[in-house]
Amino acid sequence: MFINFWYPAEQSKNIGNEPTKLRMLGQDFVLWRDSKDRVHCLSNTCTYRGGSLGGGKVKDDCIQCPYHGWRFDGDGNCTAIPSPGRHNTKGWVLDPIPLLDGSTAELELDKAAGE
Ligand code: FES
Repeated sequence: MFINFWYPAEQSKNIGNEPTKLRMLGQDFVLWRDSKDRVHCLSNTCTYRGGSLGGGKVKDDCIQCPYHGWRFDGDGNCTAIPSPGRHNTKGWVLDPIPLLDGSTAELELDKAAGE
């Protein structure tokens, strides 16, 4: 794999408002489309306990982990921790994967490849 290259990942028409799992070049991703028709891509691994985000659902334009319900926006920021008590969502960040969305969603795998 070459780093800092764009790789065709999925036909854009196949990405909807349900999570789409993608295994590509030995890495796991999740893609989804938000209510403004923007496609997002993150690592498929939740920062809390490593759940597969692709098994979750899209809520309020964020991807929601199926295990404990943590939510991440398209920039990888944790936006909600739905459990009793106050929880700081800062610091539980996933690296967003740069993405071009034309007829094909293309991923730039510089960050994902190096980590
Ligand atoms: S593993 Fe993702 S919220 Fe628990």
